[in-house]
Amino acid sequence: MSFLLLLLGILACTGNLVNASCKLEMNPPRVVVRYGDSLKATCSSTGDVEGMGWESTYGGTGLKKDVSSLVLNITSVKAWELEPQCYASLRSDGSQCTETLPVTVYKLPQSVTLSQLSGKGAPMVEGQLYQMKCDVVNVAPVKNLSISWYKGRSIYSIETFEDPSPFPVNISSEKSVTVNRNDNGAYIWCEAMLNLGSVDRNLRPMLSQPKELTVLYPPTFDTPFNETVELPAGKTISLICTAKGNPKPVYRWDFPDPAQETNEKHDSSKPILTPAFPIPGTYTCTASNSQGSSIKYFQVVEASEDRTTFGVILGVFVSLGVLLLISGLFFVTQNGTFSCSKNNYTRGQATSSGPV
Ligand SMILES: *[C@@H]1O[C@H](CO)[C@@H](O)[C@H](O)[C@H]1NC(C)=O
Ligand SMILES: *[C@@H]1O[C@H](CO)[C@@H](O)[C@H](O)[C@H]1NC(C)=O
Ligand SMILES: *[C@@H]1O[C@H](CO)[C@@H](O)[C@H](O)[C@H]1NC(C)=O
Repeated sequence: MSFLLLLLGILACTGNLVNASCKLEMNPPRVVVRYGDSLKATCSSTGDVEGMGWESTYGGTGLKKDVSSLVLNITSVKAWELEPQCYASLRSDGSQCTETLPVTVYKLPQSVTLSQLSGKGAPMVEGQLYQMKCDVVNVAPVKNLSISWYKGRSIYSIETFEDPSPFPVNISSEKSVTVNRNDNGAYIWCEAMLNLGSVDRNLRPMLSQPKELTVLYPPTFDTPFNETVELPAGKTISLICTAKGNPKPVYRWDFPDPAQETNEKHDSSKPILTPAFPIPGTYTCTASNSQGSSIKYFQVVEASEDRTTFGVILGVFVSLGVLLLISGLFFVTQNGTFSCSKNNYTRGQATSSGPV
């Protein structure tokens, strides 16, 4: 405490505290204003001042006597560099203090345009790089601008700029983009945003027109490319070879016995094959499009457990029949009739599902 007093004493003696007693306060402390809009700020002094004034490239006030606060009012800001200074002179010794109001003048982009520099006018191909460009015209200040690139719903790149110029400029961002099958049908676009740390509702991102991506990719299967299919005696089977691809894949089937091909001709260009006369062996499906082809093998084998399966099914049927018979008898004897009231129905359900 005593140290602080000592320090204050020293400062007062050397005269360094003079400006501190002429402290100026700005309200708001900083201004973000759109070019052409109005600007209003108040400068106040806490000390005993003789007079104060605003000095500015325009909109200055000149010296006003006996005021402790003064408003700067500019109806339409028509400059890019504005450094309004508030000054005050102390009554005690006539010394002056000044304070500059930080002003950022901005201008929203005139336009934001997306263009494709490479591979233009044709569908994109999976895995390839494409050069894209985003042009932002007539925006200020560029040091507070960010250009965000979107693909699908997510940002994949953001570019900011170092240029300290307060004047409107044209600026662009170039990005190379790789596309894959998941991008097919998605959109790509860019957004220009002025980050001025303010709640000004004008300061929303400005979007370019979106570009829909068309991505060509070779056929691929959702299921394994080698499947083993059991062939139950006397039954038919369906072999599913559906593949994803752009353009839409076309299919070709090869049969274990080439002679089969003539019989099954009607089916052989479809993704799902249901052979009229299935035989064991390898059925081969080829899915192709302009980007390539993929082959899927179906190993058709005779079902070895035919008999046991049949036995199990038969067993289930027999026991179900017996159960039905028993429960039927039960209801007839209890109620004397096959009435189908709600109670009996639920009880019947519970009885028959119990033992199964
Ligand atoms: C920016 O681009 C616009 C339109 O292309 C043009 O009219 C203008 O002169 C350019 N401004 C600058 C600063 O280059
Ligand atoms: C503009 O950008 C600069 C540098 O990125 C930053 O220091 C400044 O605070 C920004 N201006 C505003 C008003 O947010
Ligand atoms: C497919 O699988 C079978 C056995 O499951 C195997 O013998 C055959 O070699 C496989 N074929 C291919 C092309 O991988």
